[in-house]
Amino acid sequence: MQAHRTQEGATAPFYFPQGDEREVFAAAQANGLPLLLKGPTGCGKTRFVAHMAAQLERRLYTVACHDDLSATDLIGRYLLKGGETVWVDGPLTRAVREGAICYLDEVVEARKDVTVVLHPLTDDRRILPIDRTGEELEAASGFMLVASYNPGYQNILKTLKPSTRQRFLAIEFDFPNPEQETEIVAVESGLPAQRVAPLVRLAGKLRGLKGQDLEEGVSTRLLVYCATLIRQGMPVERAIRAAMIEPLTDDEDVKRGLLDLVTAVFG
Ligand SMILES: Nc1ncnc2c1ncn2[C@@H]1O[C@H](COP(=O)(O)OP(=O)(O)OP(=O)(O)O)[C@@H](O)[C@H]1O
Ligand SMILES: [Mg+2]
Repeated sequence: MQAHRTQEGATAPFYFPQGDEREVFAAAQANGLPLLLKGPTGCGKTRFVAHMAAQLERRLYTVACHDDLSATDLIGRYLLKGGETVWVDGPLTRAVREGAICYLDEVVEARKDVTVVLHPLTDDRRILPIDRTGEELEAASGFMLVASYNPGYQNILKTLKPSTRQRFLAIEFDFPNPEQETEIVAVESGLPAQRVAPLVRLAGKLRGLKGQDLEEGVSTRLLVYCATLIRQGMPVERAIRAAMIEPLTDDEDVKRGLLDLVTAVFG
């Protein structure tokens, strides 16, 4: 993975911008505004946040949300340590105290009590009440809340309430255009761009099937996997099957249809 240095010498992970998302992120961070990233799986959301945190020289706390994640997991808890009860900050509290970036991945998966905690933090109050300790923390300057979700997986039960949604600025991500994606996959895998280009063309065709035969189109992440296998010497057809066909479906008929597309692109 290529990386470039920030002023302080820390390395920022490689990120190829799709548009002006870096400017929007920087402006949000400078003004203490929360940001929501929307987009399909494997299109670069997590990489983008890691890149921006390094560029802006902010510490990053990432929390993968799931339906068991509670407000306590984010805020902190009392723990027994050597016979004593001590308070231990959770990742959100640490970020609020330090002026760091807290990234809630797949935020729609989180429990209701989590969104309740986010409300006073994501409006002009910027406070985090900690019931257990009686503290009311004001977010340190530099603190930023970033959340992401994939609108494709959404169902009626799992969606953000308007009162939560409308506390965030939002950026929509999609798969990069073919030229950008070719460059990204070439950099990430080390496979030369002219060998990556037909894989990206195939990905375009597979994405065309989203909603008919496939729930989701092939991600940039899977393209990187595929190109990595090929660079390591795996035959192209085998790599495509392992990285771009099998991960997408279990249905034999659909697989055959996808393999026909492979033949159409590679001959
Ligand atoms: N714009 C980009 N610049 C650099 N690498 C990228 C970019 N977009 C995608 N990638 C590559 O694709 C991989 C997957 O991206 P990432 O993990 O950021 O996806 P994501 O959108 O967070 O997906 P998920 O919703 O499943 O968490 C990265 O590890 C990276 O190799
Ligand atoms: Mg991610």
